[in-house]
Amino acid sequence: MTNPASQPTVQLLDEAAGGQPLSFPPGFLWGAATAAYQIEGAAAEGGRTPSIWDTFSRTPGRTVEGHTGDVACDHYHRFRDDVRLMAELGLKTYRFSVSWPRIQPGGSGRANQEGLDFYRRLVDELLENDIEPWLTLYHWDLPQPLEDAGGWPARDTASRFAEYAALTHTALGDRVRYWTTLNEPWCSAFLGYGSGVHAPGRSNGAEAVRAGHHLMLGHGLAVQAMRAARPDHEYGITLNLYAVSPQHDTAADLDAARRIDGLANRFFLDPVLRGEYPADVVADLREVTDFGHVHDGDLAVIATPLDVLGINYYSRHVVAAPVEGVEPEPYWRAASNWPGSEQVRFVTRGVPVTDMGWEIDAPGLVETLERVHREYPEVPLAVTENGAAFVDEVVDGAVHDPDRVAYFDAHLRACHQAIASGVPLRGYFAWSLMDNFEWAWGYTKRFGMIYVDYDSQLRIPKSSARWYADVIRRNGLAAE
Ligand code: FCB
Repeated sequence: MTNPASQPTVQLLDEAAGGQPLSFPPGFLWGAATAAYQIEGAAAEGGRTPSIWDTFSRTPGRTVEGHTGDVACDHYHRFRDDVRLMAELGLKTYRFSVSWPRIQPGGSGRANQEGLDFYRRLVDELLENDIEPWLTLYHWDLPQPLEDAGGWPARDTASRFAEYAALTHTALGDRVRYWTTLNEPWCSAFLGYGSGVHAPGRSNGAEAVRAGHHLMLGHGLAVQAMRAARPDHEYGITLNLYAVSPQHDTAADLDAARRIDGLANRFFLDPVLRGEYPADVVADLREVTDFGHVHDGDLAVIATPLDVLGINYYSRHVVAAPVEGVEPEPYWRAASNWPGSEQVRFVTRGVPVTDMGWEIDAPGLVETLERVHREYPEVPLAVTENGAAFVDEVVDGAVHDPDRVAYFDAHLRACHQAIASGVPLRGYFAWSLMDNFEWAWGYTKRFGMIYVDYDSQLRIPKSSARWYADVIRRNGLAAE
C-alpha cells in the first residue's frame, strides 16, 4: 500500500542507472550509530557499576581472546574529539546509547548525577555542532543486580526499565528529541537467553520467549511514561529485521522460512505494531511455553503508538527444511537462537560475504522496508543501523576500504528505491561511526568508518568516511 503523503519526491533507481545522481528528500537524517558498551570504556569510573556485559566478557571463553569493554575506544574521555570527527563528516544526527549502570547503578533507585552529567556534556557538544542527538536507552547493558534478580525473564525488569527510562528522560528530555527504547530485543532475548552467545549467557528457550515479552512490555511502559511528560518528542524502538527466503520453493522450505520470519521479525513487529502475537509463532512455540507470562492488558501497553520504527538491516537468512531422519534436539537441551524451530537449517548461497560471514544482500533491504511499510503502514521508518565488517589495514597512515564503500552505496541505493516506491523513510544511520567492541567477537571485527588503533587510541577516518561525508554534503549519491 502506498502512502499518498509520501509520494516519490526523488528519482527512481532506473533513472539513476542512466547516469543521474540520486538525491534524497530534503531534511533526510544522515547519521551514524554507536552503543555505550562498545565505545565508552571507563567501566569503573564516574559511579558506573557492572552490567551483564562486564560480567559476561570477564568470564573466560565468552568473548574472543577474552576481550572486554573496559577501555574500548575510551570515548568517555575522548568524546569531544569524537564529536569533532562527526562534525567533519557532516553528520546531521548521531545515534548513541546511554549506559543504564552509569545512569542508575544497580538498576533501581536514584540517578547517578555523574553519569547524567557525562551524557549532558556529550549532548551539548553535539548540539553545538548542529548534530541532532538520537538516544537509545537500552543497547544490551542490563545492570548486573537486575540479572541476579531474574533478568529479562522476570516481569519486574520491565518496570525497572520504565523507571530508568523516565529518570533519564526527565534529565535529558530538555535537549534530546529522539528517543529509542530498545535496540534489537531479538538479540537481548534470543542470543542472551536462548543460545547464550550474548550476555547474560543463559540457554533456555522458555526464558528467551519470556525475556522477549518483558522487553516489549518495558518498551511500552517507557514510551507511555516519556510521552506523558513530553508529547512533542519522537519515540520509537529499533528492531533487527531480516529478509528471509526459502532455499527452494518447496512446501517444507517455505515452512522453514515462515518459522524463522516468525521468530526473527513478526515475534516483535506484531505485538509492537498490532498488539498481538502471530498465531503461527505461538503454535510453533507450544512445546516451549504456554505464554502464561502474558497478562491481560500487556499487549495494549506493548502496542502504544510510535512516532518512528527503527530498522537495523544487515543481511538475509536463507533457510531450508530439516534433513529427514535427523531428530531435532529436545528444546530444553538445545542451546538455540530459534526455540521450537531448532531443526531449521541456515544455508549459504555462495554470494559475497562480509568479515562476519554475512551475505551481502542490498535487495533484501528494499524488500524489508517495503514489506514493513505494506504490512504495518502507519509508522514512519528509519534505518537505524546498516554496515559491514571488513579486514582493514593501515597503509602509510591511511585506511582504504572500497568494500565498505560499495556496501554502503548499494544499501543507500536500496533505501532510495524504497523511498521512491512510497516508503516513509526518514533517516539512515551507518554502523558504525568507528571501530569498536563487537560483542562476543571483541575487537576482531571492524565496522567503523573511522579506524581505531586500540593501543594508541588514534582515530583514522577510512575512505568510507570521506565518501559518506560527500554523500551527506550532496544529500544523495553521485552518478554510478
Ligand atoms: C547489531 C548491534 C550492534 C553491532 C552490529 C554489528 O546487531 O546492534 O551493536 O554489533 O550488530
